[in-house]
Amino acid sequence: MKKLENKVIAITGAAMGLGLATAIEAAQQGAQLALVDYNEKALEEAKQFILKDYPDTKVTTVVADVSKEEEVKKYVEETVKAFGRIDGFYNNAGIEGKQAPMTEYDVEVFKKVIGINLMGVYYGMRYILPIMQKQEYGRIVNVASVGGIRGVMNQTPYVASKHAVSGMTKNAALEFGRHGITTNAIAPGAILTPMVAEAFKQVNPDDPQAAETEYAQANPTKRLGLPEEVAKVVVFLLSEDASYVNGQTIAIDGGESNSYGFV
Ligand SMILES: NC(=O)c1ccc[n+]([C@@H]2O[C@H](COP(=O)([O-])OP(=O)(O)OC[C@H]3O[C@@H](n4cnc5c(N)ncnc54)[C@H](O)[C@@H]3O)[C@@H](O)[C@H]2O)c1
Repeated sequence: MKKLENKVIAITGAAMGLGLATAIEAAQQGAQLALVDYNEKALEEAKQFILKDYPDTKVTTVVADVSKEEEVKKYVEETVKAFGRIDGFYNNAGIEGKQAPMTEYDVEVFKKVIGINLMGVYYGMRYILPIMQKQEYGRIVNVASVGGIRGVMNQTPYVASKHAVSGMTKNAALEFGRHGITTNAIAPGAILTPMVAEAFKQVNPDDPQAAETEYAQANPTKRLGLPEEVAKVVVFLLSEDASYVNGQTIAIDGGESNSYGFV
């Protein structure tokens, strides 16, 4: 039996990176998909990519910016219209923002990071939790980060937003556990996605590969993670198998968040 057979799974930030990897893994596990992203072209490509390998998957796409409440309402409504229910929600869309010291951080960029990473995650839960409550069933996986557990130099709004995601996850778990809904968060370390490639360009514009190699040295595994390694944990948390896991923030980071000093 596939882990998500006939489950309806909504995924934000589904056009690339961790969202796309999870969409592929979920399709492989029998899910029907509502894919949400604000990058219309990449979203359509993601849909076609999935249908090529998994032609029996029912896929609907919604172009929406998760930082805008009206657009969140729209993607939730369109998902319910297409499938009649939402069993699982991968609340994943997020951005890193620009790297800069706290006192020099561009306030407009700060607000943008909070708007997407914090408010976007909140709006998603705000409009999907009532649907899951009516169903008396649901699985939510929010995307925090190791930056939601520890500080990260020069990334104040990102760290603030990801700590908030972890906090909101605990609250949703407390408030909705009685309705058959589990809410958990994942805290990925550095995973090789377009977002992280961009971050290495910011750290070392002349030689991003050198920045990546140096970063990997701080990890007990001496390598960065792959999107598929995150996707498998997310699918577990979205499945029946994780029925008694609730309110947790689960690090997927090769053990890096345990270290103090060199490894
Ligand atoms: N890659 C990592 O190492 C890593 C580590 C920790 C946490 N994360 C988190 O994982 C999530 C996904 O990151 P990723 O690395 O896959 O990033 P990515 O940039 O590769 O992909 C993010 C996707 O989200 C979409 N998106 C961004 N803002 C959006 C918005 N406002 N509305 C709708 N769609 C939007 C983008 O178009 C893109 O398709 C983010 O929340 C990120 O903070 C990533």
